[in-house]
Amino acid sequence: MNQIQTLAIIKPDAIRNKTAGKILSIIEDSGLTIEAVKMMRLTKELAGAFYAVHRGKPFYEELLDFMSSGPCFVLTLSGENAITRWRELMGATNPATAAEGTIRKLYGTNIQFNACHGSDAPETARQEVSFFFSGTDFL
Ligand code: CMP
Repeated sequence: MNQIQTLAIIKPDAIRNKTAGKILSIIEDSGLTIEAVKMMRLTKELAGAFYAVHRGKPFYEELLDFMSSGPCFVLTLSGENAITRWRELMGATNPATAAEGTIRKLYGTNIQFNACHGSDAPETARQEVSFFFSGTDFL
């Protein structure tokens, strides 16, 4: 049993396209547990700090514009192998190459407007969860 937390973001494109509810349903149907959720609009600065690992990449500035372009849902998910499980549900970063039935295939538009984010490893998950949530956010 590998009970673990991961961070998920339902991105501004999904909120705009009104597919956020469908993505929440996929999460609930998967057996993952939503432990905490916030609807928030990231500032460019906050998005820049969150995606600091991508600083300098050609898509970085556009990514910050996109992520601060409207509200998103930020969630902590938990469950057995939650990091891997959530990444499987999302599919590949680029909706064009994501597997059929995955969230990005269903609701993503392109490699930037790809509907959702998920932590990629245990250490990043710990960092990303604590970037947005503190102990008092878990009810
Ligand atoms: P995410 O999983 O949140 O991690 C970084 C994000 O940057 C990614 O999803 C996409 O939204 C975006 N991204 C990654 N690669 C590219 C790219 N080549 N061009 C534009 N945006 C990208």
